[in-house]
Amino acid sequence: MKTSDEWYTPAEIIQSLGEFDLDPASSPEAYRQNRSAKHFYTAEENGLEKDWHGRVWLNPPYSNPLVQQFLTKMTGHNNGIALVFAKVEAKWFHDIVLRHATAIKFLYDRVRFFRPDGTQGLQPRNGSMLIAYGTENARILSGNTLKGKFLYL
Ligand SMILES: C[S@@+](CC[C@H](N)C(=O)[O-])C[C@H]1O[C@@H](n2cnc3c(N)ncnc32)[C@H](O)[C@@H]1O
Repeated sequence: MKTSDEWYTPAEIIQSLGEFDLDPASSPEAYRQNRSAKHFYTAEENGLEKDWHGRVWLNPPYSNPLVQQFLTKMTGHNNGIALVFAKVEAKWFHDIVLRHATAIKFLYDRVRFFRPDGTQGLQPRNGSMLIAYGTENARILSGNTLKGKFLYL
């Protein structure tokens, strides 16, 4: 387990986007904190090699190449919402997200993620964006009340 990847999503962000069937990049500690989806996969199970089903919540590891690999798989699955740093200078943002996702919401406030021991991190260096895959997820994201700017791609 790479400590730098262990930053977990505040439960209220996930809850504000409805119910998810699968979180393919999680851990028992993350799941205890945010109950992100009905099922989850861990690093040991390798969510990249599993079949994905239903509506997917994805806050992937942010290290390369994992972030690109998870976003590519999400593109093929095309049903769900992803949360990643809003790195508009990254190649994966242009080549994977802008080319294939359905909609995007740049969050106004920075997300303060949680550590495995349940403590909340300070303000991260980067802002975050939510990315919708599929028209139904874009509709849900457009109606979401988190402060930010929603755009169809
Ligand atoms: C940024 S954290 C987000 C956790 C959770 N999805 C959430 O929203 O709170 C990314 C998680 O993916 C896990 N992970 C790393 N590589 C993975 C892999 N190949 N398959 C599944 N999970 C993986 C990490 O251990 C970490 O818990």
